[in-house]
Amino acid sequence: MIYFVTGNRGKFEEAQGVLGDVEQRNVGYAEIQADTLEEVALFGMKEVREKLDGPVMIEDAGLFIESLKGFPGVYSAYVFDTIGNEGILRLLDGVEDRRAVFRSVLGYAEPGMEPILFKGELWGEIAQKPRGSGGFGYDPIFEVGEKTIAEMDLEEKNTISHRGASIRDLKSWLLSR
Ligand code: IMP
Repeated sequence: MIYFVTGNRGKFEEAQGVLGDVEQRNVGYAEIQADTLEEVALFGMKEVREKLDGPVMIEDAGLFIESLKGFPGVYSAYVFDTIGNEGILRLLDGVEDRRAVFRSVLGYAEPGMEPILFKGELWGEIAQKPRGSGGFGYDPIFEVGEKTIAEMDLEEKNTISHRGASIRDLKSWLLSR
């Protein structure tokens, strides 16, 4: 049983879809202001390991938009909570290059073990308008092919997504020991 420290039910369900044996713990941790998702995840790991005794994981993700030079990136949560999807669409109004990538960094550790990181990414394009009601966050404005992620079910999202990839890497690592 792995404790997944997150307040985000959507993330937890995605992890459960891949790992099965995982428990959501919403104990909270500081998300530091840093230049990379890796730094945020490693710093967070220190705190959650002090709070929970057992195998723990956390996951930090971000949306990086090419024409905005990687914005909102490590500020994705703040930007989502402030300007949201409508704000992102306004920033890209009239912009032709809509390429973007979701990145996921997952931290995992067991007591007495150095934390390890697993990563995943998903390339796509920012849609012209939000579509779909599944997923969470930026999913309604992130297109892969014909569909936005919010138009996919959980299994389809997990098959292609940044988080699906980082969680599957953790799973393979756990199985290969
Ligand atoms: P965090 O990893 O929880 O810090 O997420 C940063 C921001 O990106 C939050 O606003 C999330 O809602 C959003 N986000 C994280 N993962 C995804 C995803 O898989 N799809 C869409 N938005 C996401």
